[in-house]
Amino acid sequence: MRVLGIESTCDETACAIVDDGVYVRSNVIASQAEIHAVYRGVVPEIAARAHIENLLPTIQQALDVAGCKLKDVDAIAVAHRPGLIGSLLVGVTAAKALAWSLGKPLVGVDHVHAHLYSVRLSPSPGTPGEGRGEGLQSAISDLQSQISDGPHPNPLPAYRERGPEFPSIGFVCSGGHTALYAIKSWTDVRLLGKTIDDAVGEAYDKASAILGLGYPGGPILDAMAARGNPKAVRFPRSKLGKDDRGRPSLDFSFSGLKTAVLYNVRGYQGKERSPNALSDAQKDDVAASFQQACIDVILGKLREAIDRIGARSVIVGGGVSANRGLRAALGSLSVRAFVPAMDYCTDNAAMIAGLGHVLIEAGVKTDLDLDAVTMSSIV
Ligand code: KG4
Ligand code: ZN
Repeated sequence: MRVLGIESTCDETACAIVDDGVYVRSNVIASQAEIHAVYRGVVPEIAARAHIENLLPTIQQALDVAGCKLKDVDAIAVAHRPGLIGSLLVGVTAAKALAWSLGKPLVGVDHVHAHLYSVRLSPSPGTPGEGRGEGLQSAISDLQSQISDGPHPNPLPAYRERGPEFPSIGFVCSGGHTALYAIKSWTDVRLLGKTIDDAVGEAYDKASAILGLGYPGGPILDAMAARGNPKAVRFPRSKLGKDDRGRPSLDFSFSGLKTAVLYNVRGYQGKERSPNALSDAQKDDVAASFQQACIDVILGKLREAIDRIGARSVIVGGGVSANRGLRAALGSLSVRAFVPAMDYCTDNAAMIAGLGHVLIEAGVKTDLDLDAVTMSSIV
């Protein structure tokens, strides 16, 4: 089955073509990062307008890169939750219109759930599997002329590589979410704990801003941490004590760590200083020490969660799963950890198409009255 995935939950307009739930024929992302950079954060109204401008060219480019037409698509999957309501509505409306006009099945996908699923994706053999958002405006072509029925020509063999063994512990770590899940199957995902304040990606972005560096902060601090000393500064590791049943809490808190970075870099109680007072080597040490604190907390919670449900594997997804320090540390767990290929860590539509495939196969039916919803169904 060939699925066209659409992602427009926040500030990336993305479209992908995925075969059999795992083989990525195209993965096109039109980022709005530059548009929002001047405001130092995503402006919802501007994001929604940019999705309207970018979506049809992005769909066209995904088809072009995949070397197929709309008639070759078997189903449409769309991220319909969670996210910014104006942004979600653009993707959901386009997906419904495509599904209706093509007479193909539609499936609504939870974006956070899809971040977990992204560990199964790989580029389709023999295709570029990739597409960038450049030159989208020139890629506009007449999508309507492609609307007709017909199967796609060369179905690929079923996915053979061994995937994660269940039950698994899922960990989503992105700019908007930080949560642990018990996963019994790709369609049975239950929340175990989540952040009570900042997401870990948000903490990276704020630590970067405190150091006077750019956005998004994750990749910047990741590179600096590789040069710095992780023991230079002893930042706090927030464990949050026990839950209401007396077991170690599986919730997270990163706001205290963020404040500790603020005080360390900028000083406090009348001794404020500019981040420029720190040398590059000192900034590298702050980045490495901050990253080590994040990793220690995450690994501690993962170990507790693995023991609690007797997990046989760990699945990590979301933007922070690209972090080299975290990826290396996951190797010290007692069970095998699965992380997405780098292209599928941050927001993309291939994960939406892939999970959409699984949901359709599981008999999930989505009607044309599909709603855009701001909250996740699994958080
Ligand atoms: O999954 P994502 O693209 O968007 C959300 O759904 O939030 O995640 C974006 C987040 C940003 O906070 C960014 O700083 C972080 O992922 N990130 C990283 C790295 N690459 C991206 N954090 C740490 N290390 C990285 N290499
Ligand atoms: Zn995301």
